Amino acid sequence: MGVYNTETIELNNGVKMPLLGYGVFQVSSEICEKCVVDALEVGYRLIDTAQYYGNEVEVGRGVLRSGVPREDIFIVSKIWIDNSGYEKARAAIRRSLVNLKTNYIDLMLIHQPFGDYYGTYRALEEAYKDGLLRAIGVSNFYPDRYIDLVLNNQIVPQVNQNETHVFYQQKQVRDVMKQYDTKLMAWSPFARGHNNFFQTPLLHDLAHKYMKTPAQVALRFLTQEGIIVIPKSSHKDRMIENFNIFDFNIEPVDMVRLRALDFNKPALGIHTDVETAKDLITRKTPIIG
Ligand SMILES: NC(=O)c1ccc[n+]([C@@H]2O[C@H](COP(=O)([O-])OP(=O)(O)OC[C@H]3O[C@@H](n4cnc5c(N)ncnc54)[C@H](OP(=O)(O)O)[C@@H]3O)[C@@H](O)[C@H]2O)c1
Repeated sequence: MGVYNTETIELNNGVKMPLLGYGVFQVSSEICEKCVVDALEVGYRLIDTAQYYGNEVEVGRGVLRSGVPREDIFIVSKIWIDNSGYEKARAAIRRSLVNLKTNYIDLMLIHQPFGDYYGTYRALEEAYKDGLLRAIGVSNFYPDRYIDLVLNNQIVPQVNQNETHVFYQQKQVRDVMKQYDTKLMAWSPFARGHNNFFQTPLLHDLAHKYMKTPAQVALRFLTQEGIIVIPKSSHKDRMIENFNIFDFNIEPVDMVRLRALDFNKPALGIHTDVETAKDLITRKTPIIG
C-alpha cells in the first residue's frame, strides 16, 4: 500500500501519506475529472476532495481513468456539516465510497467544527476500525476544539487540516498537536492569492536565489516545516510548477526569514466569527470550504 513518488510523512497510526497533493475545491464538476487525470499524470499521488465540493464522483472517475493503481493514490475526503451526527455520518461515509468508486478512503476528515461532530467522530472511529478508512481526522479545528475532541475520544486524529500559509503559520495549533502527534495539513497554501501573495518580496528574493518560483518557495517552506500541502490549480503548467518542489532545500537562515512573515491572521475567514460560522452552517458562502 502506498508507493508514493513524493516525500511522505508518517501519521500517528503508521500510515504514510504524501506531503504534497492536489486540492479540488472550486474545480467545477465539468473539468474536475480531467484535472485529476492531469494531476496524476504530472505525478501527484494525493487528491483532496470533500462532500461539500460536489466533485467526489469526478475525482473517482479521474482516478480510474488515470490508470494509476488505486493503492498508489492517497484519497482524502471530508464530511460536511449537514451529514453530521453518528447515523448521518455513517451513511455519508458509504456514499463517499460509492462516489469515489473505491472500497476504502485513505483519510476522512470532519470538515467543520459545527453540528453534531461528536457523533460524526464516532462514525469515523467505527469506519476506521472496520477498515473503510485508513486514517481519520478533522479540519478547521482550533486548539480548544481539537484538545476537547482528543481528550474525549479513543482515537487521536491523525490529521487536522487548517488554513496555513506563510502569513498564517498556525503556531498555536501546531504546538498543541505536536503533543499528540497529529499532523497539520495546509489548506490554501497560497492564501488563495489574497494579500498579493505571489508578489511577496521575500518569496521573490528567495525564488531568485534558489532559481525557483515564489509558489515553489512557499510550498517548500511549509513542507520543510513538516506540513502537508494541497495547492489547487486548474492549469496543468501550474500543476507542474507546484509539483516540482522537492529538488531544492531552503537553508535554515531563509527558513527563519520566512517564519517572520507570519502575522497569525487568516486570509480567508475565521471560524470563531459568528457571521462566518452562520454562513458555513447555512451554506450561504462557500469561500472557506
Ligand atoms: N478544509 C477546508 O475547509 C478547506 C478550505 C479551502 C481549501 N481546502 C483545500 O485546499 C486546497 C487548496 O486551497 P485553495 O484552492 O483555497 O487555495 P490555494 O491552493 O492557496 O490557491 C489556489 C489559487 O492560486 C492559483 N494558483 C495555483 N498555483 C499557482 C501558481 N503556481 N502561480 C500563481 N497562481 C497559482 C489558482 O489559480 P488557477 O486555478 O487559475 O491556476 C487559484 O486561484 C483546495 O483545493 C481544497 O482541496 C480545504
